[in-house]
Amino acid sequence: MYRTHTCGELRMEHVGKQVTLAGWVQRVRKMGSLTFVDLRDRYGITQLVASDQDSKELNDIVASLGREYVIQAKGVVEERSSKNAKMDTGDIELRLMQVNILNKSVTPPFTIEDNSDGGEDIRAQYRYLDLRRNPLRKAIELRHKMGIEARKYLSSIGFLEIETPFLIKSTPEGARDFVVPSRMNPGQFYALPQSPQTFKQLLMVAGYDKYFQIVRCFRDEDLRADRQPEFTQIDCEMSFVEREDILQTFEGMIKHMFKTILGKEFNEPFLRMSYADAMEYYGCDKPDIRFGMKMHTITSLVQGAGFSVFDNAQYVGAIAAPGCADYSRKQLDALTEWVKRPQIGAAGLVYIKWGADGIKSSVDKFFSPEKVKEIALAAEAKEGDLVLILCGAKKKMQAALGALRLEMGARLGYRDNSVYAPLWVTDFPLLEWDDQTSRFYAMHHPFTAPKPEDMDKFYSNKKEDLELVNANAYDFVLNGTEVGGGSIRIHDSNVQERMFEVLGMTKEQAESRFGFIINAFKFGAPPHGGLAFGFDRFCALFGGQETIRDYIAFPKNNQGRDVMLDAPSGIDDVQMDELFIKSTAPVK
Ligand code: AMO
Repeated sequence: MYRTHTCGELRMEHVGKQVTLAGWVQRVRKMGSLTFVDLRDRYGITQLVASDQDSKELNDIVASLGREYVIQAKGVVEERSSKNAKMDTGDIELRLMQVNILNKSVTPPFTIEDNSDGGEDIRAQYRYLDLRRNPLRKAIELRHKMGIEARKYLSSIGFLEIETPFLIKSTPEGARDFVVPSRMNPGQFYALPQSPQTFKQLLMVAGYDKYFQIVRCFRDEDLRADRQPEFTQIDCEMSFVEREDILQTFEGMIKHMFKTILGKEFNEPFLRMSYADAMEYYGCDKPDIRFGMKMHTITSLVQGAGFSVFDNAQYVGAIAAPGCADYSRKQLDALTEWVKRPQIGAAGLVYIKWGADGIKSSVDKFFSPEKVKEIALAAEAKEGDLVLILCGAKKKMQAALGALRLEMGARLGYRDNSVYAPLWVTDFPLLEWDDQTSRFYAMHHPFTAPKPEDMDKFYSNKKEDLELVNANAYDFVLNGTEVGGGSIRIHDSNVQERMFEVLGMTKEQAESRFGFIINAFKFGAPPHGGLAFGFDRFCALFGGQETIRDYIAFPKNNQGRDVMLDAPSGIDDVQMDELFIKSTAPVK
C-alpha cells in the first residue's frame, strides 16, 4: 500500500498512530537539529519532521529531497509543539521513520504555492504544475461538484443526459465554425458544433421531452476573459413548455446549485427585467444588479437651454455616484479621459457635484441652480453624490454610460464577488440589422420563435416592422455576466422557412443548410424550448472570479493557443495529402 492516509487527513485523534503518506515535497526547512518537510497532495499538506538524532540514513535521504520530489513517508503522528491554526493538519506532524523517494523532480520553473512567483505564460506552459497549486485545485474541484449537482438535480426531475455528435455540418450563422477535413470524403469538411442546438431540437421531435447534456462547444471567435474557443455548456431542452415552465425549471436548478455548493438560499423568485429596460437603465443586456446607480434618460429635461452639446444629442443620460461629490478636479479629469477612450467612445463628461456647500456643475453657464438640482434629482442623486452625464448617439452612449456605471460601481466596492444577484432578462428583439452586410441576423439564433403577438410584423417585408418583432428569448444573468441563454423555438416548418427567408437565405440555401430540421418539423414536432448555461462561466462566478481559464483544466490562451502542447501546429505533407488540403498560409 502506497499510503494509509492523505496529506490532508491527519488530526489529533491520529496521534500515536503509525501511518504512511505519499505526495510531493513542497518545502524542506532545517531549523537547528530538526528538518521539516511539507508534504503535499490534492487533499492538503502535512508537516514531516526528522531530527539529527535519527539515523544517518534517514537524515541523508531527507537532506537530499528537492522541491516536487515524490516521496513515501512512514512515521508516527505526534502533537506539534507549535501548532499552526491556518492548516487543517496544523495540530500534528509526522515524526519520520522512513522516507522512500518514488521519483525525483527537476527544479520547477515557478513556486508551487498559493501565490506563485511564475507569470501567466510560464504557468500555462507547465499547466500540470500550476494545477498542483491550491487555487487551481479548488477551482477544478468546484467544477466537479457543480457538474454533479446539475446532473443530480436534472435527472431527479426526469431529464435524460443524451450525447450528440461532435463531427457535424457547418452552418454559417452565429460565430465561425472550427472545421475538420474528411479523409474519406475528399474536399469535404465537418464542423465542430457551436452548440448542440439542432440536435436537441431533433431529440424533441423524437419524443425525449426533457434532455440535457454537459457538453463541449466550439466557436472560432475572438477571445476574452470569459470566452474560450472550446467551452462547456449545460445544454437543456424541454417539450410541451412555455417560457414560464422553462424559467421555473431552471431557476430551480440554479437555486439547488447555490444551496448545495455555496450554502446560499434564495427564497424569493429571481428578478426579471425586459431587454428594453435593461438597455434603458443599465446600458447593456446583462445588468449587474448587485448595486443600483441606475441610468436615467434626461434628454428632454436638458434640451432647449442653449447648450448645443445637449441640444444636438440624440440621447442624454445620467447616473448618480453615491458619496462622490468630493471628487477633485484631477479625479474628474481622469474620469473624463476614461470615458473618452475608444472602447467607451464618449466625447466628454458633464458632472454635477452635490456637496454640503451646494450644487456645482460643469454646465452652470447654461442652467440655473434650480435646473441643475432638477437634473440631479432626475438622476436620483442626493446630497453627497456626483452626477455623471454623457450625451450623443443613443445606442453608443447608453453603452458608454453603462460601462461608466460598472466602473464607478467597481471603484465604490459595489461589485463584491461574494454577493450574488441573479436576474432573468426577457423579451429580446428577434432580429438585429447589420448595416455592413445589409441584412438581418438572428439575435439569439435562427430557431428562436417570434412572440405570437408579433407574428404579423414577422411576415411583413418592411424593415421597420421586422425590427420591432420580439422573441420568446431569455438570458440568465449573474453579477453582470451572461451565464445562460435560450428561447422558445419555432416548431412549425413554415415559420422556420420564413425565418430563413428573413435572414436573407434563398429557399435552396435554407434547404441545403437546414433542410434536415425543416423536414423533421413536418413529422410532428412538439412545441418546445430550452436554454444553455455557460458552465465555465457558472463555475468561475461561483468561485468568485471573472476569468474562466482557471476553471478549465487545460485552457487556451488569448490567441487560442494551447502553449503547453504548442497547438495549433502545422501537419506534415503526407497528412495534408491524405486530407486533400493545401495550405495557402505564408510560410513562417
Ligand atoms: P448561447 O450562444 O447564448 O446559446 O450560449 C449559451 C451560453 O454559453 C456561454 N458561452 C461561452 N462560454 C465560454 N466561452 C465562449 N466562447 C462562450 N460562448 C457562449 C455563455 C452563454 O450564455 N444553443 C443556444 C442555447 C439555447 O438556445 O438553448 C446557445 O448556445 O454563458
